[in-house]
Amino acid sequence: MAIIWDKRTFHLFNEKISYVIKVTDANHLMHVYFGERVYEDDLDYALNSRNYDKYRRESADNENMNLQYLPQEFASFGSNDPRLPSIRLEFKDGSRTTDFKYHRHQIIKGKPKLEGLPATYGTEDEVETLVITLKDAYEDVFVELSYSIFKDYNVITRHTNIINNTKHKINIERITSATLDLSHVEGDMIQLSGTWAKERFYERTPLRQGIQEIASRKGSSSHDLNPLLIIASKDAHETYGEVLAMNFVYSGNFEGSIEVDAQKMARMSMGINDFDFKWALHPNDTFVSPEVVLVYANDGLEDMTHTFHNLYSNHLIKGKHKHAPRPILLNNWEATYFDFNETKILNLAQEASALGIELFVLDDGWFGKRNNDQTSLGDWFVNKDKLPSGLDNLSKKINDLGMKFGIWFEPEMISPTSELYKKHPEWIIGHHHRRNYQGRSQYILDITRKDVQTYILDSVSNILDSANIEYVKWDYNRFFTDIYSSHLKPEQQKELTHRYILSLYSILDKLTTKYKDVLFESCAGGGGRFDPGMLYYTPQIWTSDNTDAIERLKIQHGTSLAYPNAAMGCHVSSVPNHQVGRITPLKTRGIVAMSGNFGYELNLLELSKEEKEEIKNQIKTYKTIRNTVQYGTLFRLSNANDVSWMYVNKDKSQVVVNHIRQKGLVDPSIKTIKLKGLAKDAYY
Ligand code: GLA
Repeated sequence: MAIIWDKRTFHLFNEKISYVIKVTDANHLMHVYFGERVYEDDLDYALNSRNYDKYRRESADNENMNLQYLPQEFASFGSNDPRLPSIRLEFKDGSRTTDFKYHRHQIIKGKPKLEGLPATYGTEDEVETLVITLKDAYEDVFVELSYSIFKDYNVITRHTNIINNTKHKINIERITSATLDLSHVEGDMIQLSGTWAKERFYERTPLRQGIQEIASRKGSSSHDLNPLLIIASKDAHETYGEVLAMNFVYSGNFEGSIEVDAQKMARMSMGINDFDFKWALHPNDTFVSPEVVLVYANDGLEDMTHTFHNLYSNHLIKGKHKHAPRPILLNNWEATYFDFNETKILNLAQEASALGIELFVLDDGWFGKRNNDQTSLGDWFVNKDKLPSGLDNLSKKINDLGMKFGIWFEPEMISPTSELYKKHPEWIIGHHHRRNYQGRSQYILDITRKDVQTYILDSVSNILDSANIEYVKWDYNRFFTDIYSSHLKPEQQKELTHRYILSLYSILDKLTTKYKDVLFESCAGGGGRFDPGMLYYTPQIWTSDNTDAIERLKIQHGTSLAYPNAAMGCHVSSVPNHQVGRITPLKTRGIVAMSGNFGYELNLLELSKEEKEEIKNQIKTYKTIRNTVQYGTLFRLSNANDVSWMYVNKDKSQVVVNHIRQKGLVDPSIKTIKLKGLAKDAYY
């Protein structure tokens, strides 16, 4: 791994990849190459093949180079490149034109933290960082482009800082975290599309002239379009072909786009969505953009997946649980919904313990007067009607059964009928002169306020300190409307959605640091915030509210593209399935849920003796394969009517193959599943 600066060219490389940037005579930054490792000789070719000279000749002088035909590393707004820019600033006089040029650079061992934001990390031996500082040709505004290269990964991580050294406020109207210009792309775009209970379905479409975009304007990364954007060569498939991916380490409004021009040049960008965004950057202040993880894989989607999985498992997820066996849990949500009391919970727990379950999760409904979803969010005190002896006693009784105890929260929310709302109606996001939209009968708390942050930290801490709670499910069940904060100044209102995410990260950082032994699982009405930003704080995420085994095949397949096996919460639920009404065999449900972070979410008390026996066996089996499934290498062997997922542990001593046939076929032919990743001389 090294970063070289020679002949006005930067070359970042490791054994697998090279990333090359050239500084032109006019000091603009040009993108030369990102792909398989190249060497000095190839580099000359790569540089020449870009035809800089040709374009220079066509222009009157260096300053007038026709930037629209050149692969730029960072595209200023207002130049002769009309494609989507990397940046758009607004100066005091209303002008927006900038011209960012090379100013200086620095090569750093290791990887500096991104202030206030989640990001990948590594030691000085594992990663190096190049920071290129650009300066506007006229104003004292600087842009720092950061590129980190990890020793063993086909990955470059990028982000952008903007520094205002002028004497006046500047508005940031647009900033991408990474812009990547590629010449002559004839490929496909792959995205993960969906909605609630249908998250992250794999979708592949041919690239065409114009802008193709994935985005969220909901305030969260959303159920609808995941912040993962992929360009695949036409011939690329699971195990063959070139794949380029950007994944955004951010949980709020984002925009990922691919703009293709008539010459088939493609500009791939990822950043905070500029929709309803404007950030006032005051003199001497710096704006830090979130991180983009950029993967180049030359062996197809599987290669890309392995890269993301390994990078996230080793260099993104933090805390003591990142490599620890995740407990098999029982969650009472689909078993009881809001209708439970201590006896019912203990009966369930007793049954769970007898079957070998390791963690009991008490879901929604244990606090305030929460007997349905219309009330009590914000009132984080125990409902003594349901749990007369409190959480401490309950957790003790559950611990006595040999299980850990965990609990559900939705701390970012407030019900209009809550005690908290009576005291603090001004704490919501929305305008007090207007009727504000409720979502699932609730408002979003304005967590950009310090008093609200303190309230959340205190109320969650009080509960966590009150009992032996070893797991937290952190939920978030609606999206943003009426975007207004009563405590922000008028000119700051378009900062709200980003400030919200920064505040969320600050809260999560404090809580996960204070309660470092607690295992956090995030959730957002299922998988509405399944992104690397959340993964940094919460090593597992509830994949989807849809627990139907057959629907889950698509959801988990899409999710597996970038997110590690151990990150995906997968539960066996009852039949007919509560979301789609389908009846599937317990065996099928077990196998699908065993393809991730395993658990149950059904009323164990209603099961037959045979079903309990089967569950006992599933749990026994999972315990023997847990490490392989959670931390092994995933191979998606087949993704059709027959779905096969295979897991190989690190030393290849164990392999697990999960196989589901979705529809029965009248098919006498014998199907062979070809296994992968096996040790050569081993007998399995
Ligand atoms: C969301 C979650 C569910 C459950 C309910 C409780 O929908 O995704 O798993 O926790 O909230 O209200």
